[in-house]
Amino acid sequence: MNVGGKPRRTIWVEPDGAVGIIDQTKLPHDLVTRRLATWEDAAGAIATMQVRGAPLIGVAAAYGLALAMRAEASDANLARARAGLAATRPTAVNLQWALQEMASALETFAPADRARAAFERAGELAEADVETCRRIGEHGVALIEAAARKKRGPVNVLTHCNAGWLATVDWGTALAPIFLAHRQGLDLHVWVDETRPRSQGLLTAWELAQEGVPHTLVVDNAGGHLMQHGQVDLCLVGTDRTTRRGDVCNKIGTYLKALAAHDNQVPFYAAVPASSIDWALEDGVRDIPIEQRDAREVLEVAGRGRDGALASVRVAGEGTRAANWAFDVTPARLVTGLVTERGVCEASAAGLHRLFPER
Ligand code: MRU
Repeated sequence: MNVGGKPRRTIWVEPDGAVGIIDQTKLPHDLVTRRLATWEDAAGAIATMQVRGAPLIGVAAAYGLALAMRAEASDANLARARAGLAATRPTAVNLQWALQEMASALETFAPADRARAAFERAGELAEADVETCRRIGEHGVALIEAAARKKRGPVNVLTHCNAGWLATVDWGTALAPIFLAHRQGLDLHVWVDETRPRSQGLLTAWELAQEGVPHTLVVDNAGGHLMQHGQVDLCLVGTDRTTRRGDVCNKIGTYLKALAAHDNQVPFYAAVPASSIDWALEDGVRDIPIEQRDAREVLEVAGRGRDGALASVRVAGEGTRAANWAFDVTPARLVTGLVTERGVCEASAAGLHRLFPER
């Protein structure tokens, strides 16, 4: 998508073979790029959320394995790097999926050919992610068009966290239909949840501004009020892991939005690439591992100070304890539908089976 009118991606291979990323911890204030030269660099970038968002975490891990193979293409190093990358973040299933895709591809190559094969496969996963998101966009636009037919004025879409192009290689998942609808001239407006504590909503607002999509940033607790007052026509969110019966795990607070949407008869959709579906799990509330992050993310807020420098300030009193669950699970019964690269389906085992009969 566009930054300053020029198309950009979140991850790329530099001419000298290092992997380039946008450091998302500096956005929306500064656009800073970084070079990853080792698999440890890639693991660090994922763990510290310089790269984030389920699909991008997967692709970054794939490039991490490629960097490991360039350093030393032995079975032992493959296993070491795979374990190190897998341990960075527990919830987004795309991470395990991408590492498995890479390992399966590399098994068939002798060590001498592994580095080349690994960069090739990681590149394919990146390109496939772009295509997947583009298709999610095409299928999701129909939902916005349907909402537009029912009313006068802009379609109001509420989104939580950042499921835009920054969370993928390009396009995004939940934001792809929004970008596409806007480019097609549909009248729409996006309510952007701030998404404390990491404030990924600020990334969403930045992306929407770059594309010229009308939007308003709201505090996380505003959604219920907006829905009660007819200000939301559609909720559209991403996912880090969706179970085979359609339970949707996404950024903490998503479940509360789904409850409010249900109470106010607002359609609630999740954009779900197949790489985010965990076919081995049924009950998301019981079985999806929920990441718990450093309490400091809750106790402190980061931003640009009056002196222009990026800084963190403590908002909680000294001695206050905090807990920091990063995700929650919205049961399938609260989800109107899943927007996948193969079309829109009911959030149920039957719905997913219809689109993915091979699974
Ligand atoms: O902790 P994050 O920022 O990696 O969490 C991101 C989300 O929860 C997104 O909604 C999800 O990964 C889908 S991204 C297309």
